[in-house]
Formats: sequence, C-alpha cells, structure tokens
Amino acid sequence: MPSLEEQFEQVFTEILISDSGPHLLEAEAVTDCIVNGESVAITLDLPPDDELRKDISGRIEVRLKKIPGISAVTIRMSDQTPQAPEGQAPPAPDAQPRPPQSPEKKTYLQNYEAVIAVGSGKGGVGKSTVAINLAVTLAKMGHRVSMFDSDIYGPSLPIMMGLRNTRPTMNDDSTIIPLYKHGLHVMSIGNVVEEASATIWRGPIVHQVIDQLLRDTQWPGGDFMVIDMPPGTGDAQLTLSQVLEITGAVIVSTPQDVALLDAIKSVSMFHKVEVPVIGMVENMSGFVCPNCNTETEIFDKGNAERASGQNNIPFLGRIPLETAIREGGDFGTPIAVSAEDSPTAEAFRKIAVRMIEEIERL
Ligand SMILES: Nc1ncnc2c1ncn2[C@@H]1O[C@H](COP(=O)(O)OP(=O)(O)O)[C@@H](O)[C@H]1O
Ligand SMILES: [Mg+2]
Repeated sequence: MPSLEEQFEQVFTEILISDSGPHLLEAEAVTDCIVNGESVAITLDLPPDDELRKDISGRIEVRLKKIPGISAVTIRMSDQTPQAPEGQAPPAPDAQPRPPQSPEKKTYLQNYEAVIAVGSGKGGVGKSTVAINLAVTLAKMGHRVSMFDSDIYGPSLPIMMGLRNTRPTMNDDSTIIPLYKHGLHVMSIGNVVEEASATIWRGPIVHQVIDQLLRDTQWPGGDFMVIDMPPGTGDAQLTLSQVLEITGAVIVSTPQDVALLDAIKSVSMFHKVEVPVIGMVENMSGFVCPNCNTETEIFDKGNAERASGQNNIPFLGRIPLETAIREGGDFGTPIAVSAEDSPTAEAFRKIAVRMIEEIERL
C-alpha cells in the first residue's frame, strides 16, 4: 500500500498542465498541500487562464477524492491571496480561517538581547547540529540562552537534546512552559505535534504553526535566542524572517560546491528580507579519524571560507566531520556538553566568540 504522500504524488504527476506536459510537480504548480484528517487543502501556481485552472482543479479534485481516507478537497490559486502591503510576503494560505495578522507579531521575542537564526539553503548540512552546539556553548559561557526549533519539516531538537517524547507543561491560560535541558530553555514543534501527524509539502503553512508556537510559549527572555530555521529559501523561510525581529543569521554550509551554492542563495534571501548575515560556518570540514586522529579532507576543505570572503560574509569557523558529533546528536547530548575539552568543543567556543564580535559590530 503506497503512503498517502506517494498517492498524492502519483496524482500530481499524472495531471499534465498542457497536452504534452509538464506534469504538476515538474511545473512546480503545487505550492502547498496540507492534509488535515480527511480534508486536503491545495494551493496551485498556474498561468492566469481560467479555463485551464478550472480544468486542472476539477481533475485534481476528482482524483484526490478517490484516495481512501480523503473526502474533501479545497483548491485555491496562489495569486488569489489578498494583496499584502509592499515589501511583505503575502499571508499564508489557510486550511482553516485564522484571525487577521496582529501588528505586534514582531514583539514575541523582544525579551532577548539577540535573536539568531541559524539557516542553510539545504537540509542535512548540519544546521541543527551547529545551532544546538552553538546554543549550548553560549550557555556554558554564562549567557542566558533559549532555543527554538522552527524546522517543521524535520524537527531534530527533541532527539539531539535528549527530549524525544517529552511534552511541555501547559499553564492554565494554555501558554506553554518551554522545556529545559543542557542549560537551555527550548521548544520544538516536535515536542507538541505527533511525529508525522500532518503531511506537508513545501509551502507557507510552516508560518502559521511557528507563529502560534512562538506566541504561545512563555519564553523566559535572556541574552540569546537561537532559532533552527527550516532549510531552503522558499516562502516559509521568507515569512519567518519577516514575522520575527531577527538580529542576524548564521549560515551553515558544507565545503561542497552544491551545498555552498545553496548557502549563497540563503545569504541573498536574508539580505532580501533585511536580516543581516552574521557569518558562515563550514561544517563537515575535514574528517577526523576516531582511531588515529588524523584529518582527511573528504570534501574540499576551506571552500566555505573562500566563498564567504568572495561574498563579503564574515567566516566564523569550521567544524570537522567527526563520529562523536553525530553520536552526540543521536544520543541527545551535544558534543559541546559531553566532551567539553575536545578540539570540537573548542571550535564551537571560537565560533561563538566570533559570532558575538560580529553581532556587536552590527
Ligand atoms: N560535523 C559533523 N560530524 C559528524 N556528523 C555530523 C556533523 N554535523 C552533522 N552531522 C550529522 O549529520 C546529520 C544531519 O545533521 P543535522 O544537524 O540534522 O542537519 P540539518 O539540520 O542541516 O538537516 C545528523 O545525523 C548529524 O548528527
Ligand atoms: Mg535540522
């Protein structure tokens, strides 16, 4: 039995935009697809041709309703969003109506001296690993630090902080008391939502969920709020950068060209939304052999440093590819906690110091 996601993909690949293709996914025409129980809400990005839109919407509806468990299909066009004021992303499309956006959005995290977004153009480059170790390092240096995992596509904070299946306590007024571990106040979408409770493809739904979680959490305030951003440079990231007053962004990249290109894209995205880029961290830079401690340059070490120089972005430092870093993540004790005297923990301290210098310069 194919998964729901596969069945959806099947439908989307079978529907062609014109007689000779491309299909909906090739054309990137499905910009949002949210399954909520038996209902599915779809946003389409199609040419402004009423006939075509009607035809495709009709075909999608008929086909999706044939999927067992799906009984209602709502389809809207991406350009049917109410016009947002200039310079702002359009509001997220909704599966359900929600109250108008409140103007005080940007005040959620005002009780922090600095709000740092840790971003990357690509997933799997170690963004969460760097974000968590950096946050823990800052706390060890005596700062008051909180961390928010906004990566709803792949929340990794619960596992990496040893907080899997831990639910936060709710106050009487339904506000959430953040969890506390390794010296950090933390909250992740993974601690409040069942794993895989909703099927989500790209798209700005991320904004709504994050917005609510940020608002409903009783953040204690302090020196730093570190945010693990979702990977990519799409709507979700743009919107997030706009609803939050972000002091600056730290970009994580591996030394490979592909990852770097994505990193550069994410730099230009932050520039576009006027979030200053604090600097770049090169992760998985050289492999440290656990047996003999020699370093092997698996990827071309130093690429991120060169690229940041070429793009006028401060280079904050590099973290090696090391088994203990992965194990720290898997077992819920970040290496900056479990091996405080290791060269890697020292590398995180240097990055933290460089980062603070850059924040002060901003
Ligand atoms: N420097 C590193 N050395 C070894 N493993 C790493 C390193 N950085 C990340 N990893 C591992 O790579 C995987 C992806 O890292 P993660 O931080 O989840 O990436 P992202 O948040 O960018 O998707 C995880 O299993 C993590 O433990
Ligand atoms: Mg991650």
